[in-house]
Amino acid sequence: MKIGIIGAGNIGARLARKLAASGHDVKLANSKGPQSIRDLAEEVGATPVTKEEAVADAEVIILAIPFASHQGLTNLFGHAAPEVVVIDTSNYYPFRDGAIAEVDSGKPESVWAQEQIGRPVVKAWNAVLAETLEAGGKPAGTPGRLAIPVAGDDAKATATARQLVDQTGFDALDAGSLKDSWRQQPGTPAYCTELAIGDLKLAVEAAKRDRASRNRDALMKEFASAGGALTHAQIVARNRSVTA
Ligand SMILES: NC(=O)c1ccc[n+]([C@@H]2O[C@H](COP(=O)([O-])OP(=O)(O)OC[C@H]3O[C@@H](n4cnc5c(N)ncnc54)[C@H](OP(=O)(O)O)[C@@H]3O)[C@@H](O)[C@H]2O)c1
Repeated sequence: MKIGIIGAGNIGARLARKLAASGHDVKLANSKGPQSIRDLAEEVGATPVTKEEAVADAEVIILAIPFASHQGLTNLFGHAAPEVVVIDTSNYYPFRDGAIAEVDSGKPESVWAQEQIGRPVVKAWNAVLAETLEAGGKPAGTPGRLAIPVAGDDAKATATARQLVDQTGFDALDAGSLKDSWRQQPGTPAYCTELAIGDLKLAVEAAKRDRASRNRDALMKEFASAGGALTHAQIVARNRSVTA
């Protein structure tokens, strides 16, 4: 497939590498322009392009950008095909992204994101840490293979997203519609907890809407006060301490 990835950081570059290795034609864009990611793109097997070029003939567009950056992308999607599948990997952290009142009031993050860009999105890869994405993938059928929740409203688009998640080394859990995608947001039991598909399904079901943002902020405070001293395993363990 022709895949355009907007965002070439922790998540975008890792997805580019994995999807290029799976045989896709991957274009990679950031905000600074293709010259700034020439070496990175070559290393991961993608073509460095402008944002407009990334979406122009894409069958799938993956947004791997900071949450607030969706606000500036409305015009960009005028360059994209009407049937393109758009996948949103983002998460909202008010301390980093600035407070967004609608989301603070309970609008699911990816519902807000799709309103900003004017296209329906599928939510995927948001609930996996970059390090897990890098090293935690396994071939399909491996016992205990980790899973990633995928939520969206269009059956064909979510099926495409699930297929791509599988190709990046993870089982894809059908986590329902986009309006339910708060169940995989930061501060929920499904968020970055490295679970296999059966446990991930239970975790998605256990989420409590009124607790998620409080859990998120408490964990962020704890991680910040640890000052980078926590190992990946310790971060996952702390995330797993969120049970609802
Ligand atoms: N890091 C994780 O473990 C993790 C896990 C799951 C999901 N996520 C989510 O995935 C998203 C990306 O996270 P990340 O860690 O990959 O961030 P990151 O390393 O900071 O990379 C962000 C990328 O987005 C690009 N970008 C920002 N604004 C843009 C715009 N308006 N147009 C085009 N490109 C733009 C940046 O380009 P420039 O450098 O040129 O500005 C950069 O390449 C976030 O929403 C995050 O919450 C992160």
